[in-house]
Amino acid sequence: MLDFTTLAVVGCQWGDEGKGKITDYLAAQADVVVRYQGGPNAGHTVNIGNETYKLHHLPCGILYQEKTCILGNGMVLDPSVLVKELDNLKERGITPERLYISDRAHLILPYHLRQDALEEKKRGGSKIGTTLRGIGPAYQDKIGRRGIRAGELKEPLRVKERIREILAEKNELFQRYYDDPGIKMQEIEETYLPLADRLLPYITDTSLLLDAYLHQGAKILFEGAQGAMLDLEYGTYPYVTSSSTLAGSIFCGTGIPPGKVKAVLGVAKAYSTRVGAGPFPTEIEGPKAGQIRERGREFGTTTGRPRRIGWLDGVALRQACRLNGLEHLALTLFDVLSGMGDLKIATAYRLADGSVIEHFPAALHILEQSTPVYQEYAGWSEDISGARSINDLPAAALAYLQGVEAVTGARVSLISVGPRRDQTFVRP
Ligand code: GDP
Ligand code: IMO
Ligand code: MG
Repeated sequence: MLDFTTLAVVGCQWGDEGKGKITDYLAAQADVVVRYQGGPNAGHTVNIGNETYKLHHLPCGILYQEKTCILGNGMVLDPSVLVKELDNLKERGITPERLYISDRAHLILPYHLRQDALEEKKRGGSKIGTTLRGIGPAYQDKIGRRGIRAGELKEPLRVKERIREILAEKNELFQRYYDDPGIKMQEIEETYLPLADRLLPYITDTSLLLDAYLHQGAKILFEGAQGAMLDLEYGTYPYVTSSSTLAGSIFCGTGIPPGKVKAVLGVAKAYSTRVGAGPFPTEIEGPKAGQIRERGREFGTTTGRPRRIGWLDGVALRQACRLNGLEHLALTLFDVLSGMGDLKIATAYRLADGSVIEHFPAALHILEQSTPVYQEYAGWSEDISGARSINDLPAAALAYLQGVEAVTGARVSLISVGPRRDQTFVRP
């Protein structure tokens, strides 16, 4: 896995699988690290020594300083969050030497944040539980062909005029439909645009840049955000994010052609979590969920919300492997399962009529009627956070790992037993 030319790291569950940690681990070998979808809804944690970094827009390669980092055109960017992220890193001695932002990436504006909140409020009991970062509305405007792209900041008068026009429409929507006073242009001019202008030095055509890197034979790592079950197409729609989180979106989201991503590594935690609302078939009710949440520190990186906890969902994971073409998995937070007693992996779902399905259904009402069919595994009590090779794992942990492989057909090639870089090992 360490020997790659181009490699994508993708989430296989409902996000927060430890993509940040795994990307950081693999980035040691990379020349370029690229984000291609999502925006500040992502929260990728990297622990280096005693330092913890939480990245929302910036690829984890930024922490190496000498790596080239690219924010691809498929992303949506909030300048106020991104500038804060850069400032925070600067305070900690990290300055971006080679950061590039796609001129085609769409901007999140203050009205997107407001719209996200108003839409959620309107949904009442069927809230999605978004991160309230304006992601959905920014992608809606992109698809609706009224988005503002990063490159437009280069023409200040024109962009101001465009924002003014769109804001008039948004304010009409906010006032008439949501009974909200709306947002003043002056506010955007005084607080938003000066921050957005700070991004200007980084904005360029990143597709051309990536093409040049590909021709040079540079090692490129693609850092996915969210996870397969939050994918706009194949996730638990409508309880999903507004971008495609699958490896297939790398091509549209960066402007490189299919075939240029030579390998894809899926990241899966050893159990399941979900933050926000929506179906979660293997959700655990009761004290064990609390124990796993505490041990795994399962609180949202972006919003601080407690994450819902569930058993490993082999049906969902199998779908993630199929859709991403995964042959290899990185299994993370494995240490969290020590001392949790007997464990379970869902291998199929049983429907209300007694029939059994082995694939993830599109219709939520079918999912809601179904109950997981579990394979049980003996637990282990040994602390495995010090394991540095497969031989250091107790037999029960090994059997569980083989259960993950059996249910997915993919090989667990990378194992993570703690948040730090050194708590990671490759399985030869
Ligand atoms: P991401 O969004 O996929 O990058 O994941 P997050 O950073 O949101 O959440 C993963 C959390 O688990 C972070 O707090 C990581 O520091 C932590 N983490 C990652 N791998 C491991 C691991 O193997 N064991 C433990 N205990 N924590 C881990
Ligand atoms: P990383 O990259 C976990 C979830 C939200 C909500 C749904 C839609 O850290 O894994 P959005 O704000 O995107 O419109 O919210 O998606 N969500 C995530 N959950 N990890 C993430 O990112 C997420 N990004 C969005 O909680 O349920
Ligand atoms: Mg996260």
